Amino acid sequence: MNQKPRRPRRKPLDPARRAAFDVLRAVSERDAYPNLALPALLRERGITGRDAAFATELTYGTCRTRGLLDAVIGAAAGRTPEAIDPVLLDLLRLGTYQLLRTRVETHAAVSTTVEQAAIEFDSARAGFVNAVLRTISGRDEKAWVDELAPDPAADPVGHAAFVHAHPRWIAQAFADALGAAAGELDAVLASDDERPQVHLAARPGALTAEELAEAVHGTVGRYSPYAVYLPSGDPGELPAVRDGQALVQDEGSQLVARALTLAPVDGDTGRWLDLCAGPGGKTALLAAVAAGRDARVTAVEPSAHRADLVEENTRGLPVEVLRVDGRQTGLEPGFDRVLVDVPCTGLGALRRRPEARWRRRPADIPALTRLQRELLEAAIALTRPDGVVLYATCSPHLAETVGVVADALRRHPVSALDTRPLFEPAGDLGDGPYVQLWPHRHGTDAMFAAALQVG
Ligand SMILES: C[S@@+](CC[C@H](N)C(=O)[O-])C[C@H]1O[C@@H](n2cnc3c(N)ncnc32)[C@H](O)[C@@H]1O
Repeated sequence: MNQKPRRPRRKPLDPARRAAFDVLRAVSERDAYPNLALPALLRERGITGRDAAFATELTYGTCRTRGLLDAVIGAAAGRTPEAIDPVLLDLLRLGTYQLLRTRVETHAAVSTTVEQAAIEFDSARAGFVNAVLRTISGRDEKAWVDELAPDPAADPVGHAAFVHAHPRWIAQAFADALGAAAGELDAVLASDDERPQVHLAARPGALTAEELAEAVHGTVGRYSPYAVYLPSGDPGELPAVRDGQALVQDEGSQLVARALTLAPVDGDTGRWLDLCAGPGGKTALLAAVAAGRDARVTAVEPSAHRADLVEENTRGLPVEVLRVDGRQTGLEPGFDRVLVDVPCTGLGALRRRPEARWRRRPADIPALTRLQRELLEAAIALTRPDGVVLYATCSPHLAETVGVVADALRRHPVSALDTRPLFEPAGDLGDGPYVQLWPHRHGTDAMFAAALQVG
């Protein structure tokens, strides 16, 4: 029988791509956090197994590589990404990511994206998406990078930033912080694309790292005496975590909290302060050590929600939570040990937040460094002579690290202690006196810490 060929019916996206696309829209339109939005959406739609893994790879990968994808899309489309409809642009990013960074067949990457463009828009715009993706699929990622990235000889930092899909200013900040080790820039940038291993902290006084490792089938950490590395699985499901014997905490953060407890303080009277406490991970570790030394921790956190989390995370420990601004606490000065783990750009933990590298702006820095200086000043004023302040950030940006500390050394009666021995047995910590941890060296977030003695 002679039948007229029928136009194929447009198929909506499969569940994994649909989930990725919806989260990308939420990120672009409502500043959603993909690491919160995606798991919620997968749960709501009952997406599990391989579909969930594929949706996760597409969502996080597309968020991370956005700048690289936009450069390629712009070149292939012959117009800047800003000139493309934002919904179409998200679709193009999803399609381009599949073409350049996954094993998805070219045909599947192109046809699913084009069909979705036809459903969302019309055949003219589907044709545009088709043309752009066909052009992109004509070359692999390396060929596009060779064409579009800055010349590595003239601009090595710009080249590395492009290759590893980071904004140039962030790559420059890492290179500045690495200083003489700037040759490690590629390794730092690459580590932001790796999924961090889950670290647990065995609560001191409750159980040892060895006991926890055995209970969760993990391995004892390299540096922190409390650390256990979890090979797989959801840490929230572990009985030790649920009953408060262990917390989920990056080993770098454990080392920071522990460093304050190890700092040399003569005649410690047991008055310890955590000036930026929420959500209370470091407070919990500090307080568990404090409990064994007859000390108490005052925890300051102005955000009501985060202060509630501090209370939850420190239940049963010697902690008093104050919901006030760290710059105006009204507290009696005279603390022996003070942690000031300031709000920061979070450039040291980009691997935990796929979209963060593209959301942060250099313009965020001046307001943050002002707040950091004021909080450090307040911390120093609350510390007794011969007491120790530990200034910490989860960013290696020099303006947030040595810049803030240098300002305090100039303006306040403090001297820098060699912070590195407080982090032993971790090595490879830089030239001192401060400590800079790095994911590619230590497997931790890129935490910075400076111990300052008052008086
Ligand atoms: C980097 S986080 C601290 C993380 C915490 N130490 C932990 O390990 O769980 C910085 C905290 O400082 C709080 N913060 C912001 N402004 C503050 C202020 N003016 N005074 C005190 N804390 C502030 C933020 O709400 C945030 O909870």
